[in-house]
Amino acid sequence: MSNNKFETNAIRTQMERSEFLEHSTPLHLTSSFIFEDAEDMRASFAEEKQRNIYSRFTNPNTSEFVDKMCKLEGAENGYAFATGMAAVFSTFAALLNAGDHIVSARSVFGSTHTLFTKFLPKWHIETSYFKVDEVDQIESLIQPNTKILYLESPTNPAVDILDLELLGKIAKKHNLIYIIDNCFATSYLQNPIKFGADLVIHSATKLIDGQGRVLGGVTVGRADLIREIYLFSRNTGPALSPFNAWILSKSLETLGVRVDRHCENALKVAEFLEVHDKVALVKYPFLKSHPQYDLAKKQMKLGGNVVAFEVNGGIEAGRQFLNHLKMLSLSANLGDTRSIATHPASTTHSKLSEADRLETGIADGLVRISVGLEHVDDIIDDLKQALKYV
Ligand SMILES: Cc1ncc(COP(=O)(O)O)c(C=O)c1O
Repeated sequence: MSNNKFETNAIRTQMERSEFLEHSTPLHLTSSFIFEDAEDMRASFAEEKQRNIYSRFTNPNTSEFVDKMCKLEGAENGYAFATGMAAVFSTFAALLNAGDHIVSARSVFGSTHTLFTKFLPKWHIETSYFKVDEVDQIESLIQPNTKILYLESPTNPAVDILDLELLGKIAKKHNLIYIIDNCFATSYLQNPIKFGADLVIHSATKLIDGQGRVLGGVTVGRADLIREIYLFSRNTGPALSPFNAWILSKSLETLGVRVDRHCENALKVAEFLEVHDKVALVKYPFLKSHPQYDLAKKQMKLGGNVVAFEVNGGIEAGRQFLNHLKMLSLSANLGDTRSIATHPASTTHSKLSEADRLETGIADGLVRISVGLEHVDDIIDDLKQALKYV
């Protein structure tokens, strides 16, 4: 099956069928598994046998989800987590020692930023940041104790694009573990391992579930690193539940067709906003006006479903716009069938100083739209009427 295309792998990677020969994957809701005898139990714990012992370690449903994600990202192995942040935290906790150092971009997801600034320093792990338009500064930030280069592309919420291949070369030159949070693009649009990534992380809560139902996360990549992540996680308990794994594995079957339509709608929304007189700036990777348009075209199949734009008039204008939306949801999620609008300056990034916010590309009037799968004319009509109040 390994030569199959994305869509086929997303559908046909499945656990071994039981005696019932079920067509669709069954759900294995069990905390633990039984052993045939004492020797079977000993050999299983000694890892002489590859088998399920306890669902905090592995479960057929989580394994199916991980196997699919590995195929879709071209990874050797992986581990599935209860949330995207559990994946991010456990990956750092498993691989870093006190005194290690991380290099990352200014523009990362808010909770990842909080992990870098508030929690990892408790274990004397510090992070240095480069601005997304100052990639040439990275090498000056690398120290003898730097162990990880950690990035998102496209970034949340400013939708900037980083050169994954160039950064992969820098990581290799300095022997850094190169980790990409690929949740905005999904494995369908971009495979960071092709550009040298050692590990790829996803919040499966977003486009992988795609219907706003369950939380989940996954880290896939180099088998030696995943082994460390597995041992950490098996002993500390951030595992994905079998039920959520079952949902997420089924969701992957439709990821390609869903993301195609998300991207088609998002491009139309971006094109509408770009010529609107109440809109100061639109950021969408596949708009020619995006500062990294050529790069986006090189490393992504399509532009993704997130459009960021700035309304004229600052924070108040952003809030007014949100207050007048009739169909789009005001919600903290993204990647749902339902289109969602957020105003980062007054919500997810309100705890950052104004200077830090601007450095991260979050202007006061920035609005982030996660474009959903409603008819695009209805999405645009709602934006049009709400913009009248700005
Ligand atoms: C880029 C990115 N990474 C990680 C996360 C965290 O994922 P979760 O909410 O599943 O913990 C998010 C959530 O919005 C995100 O946008």
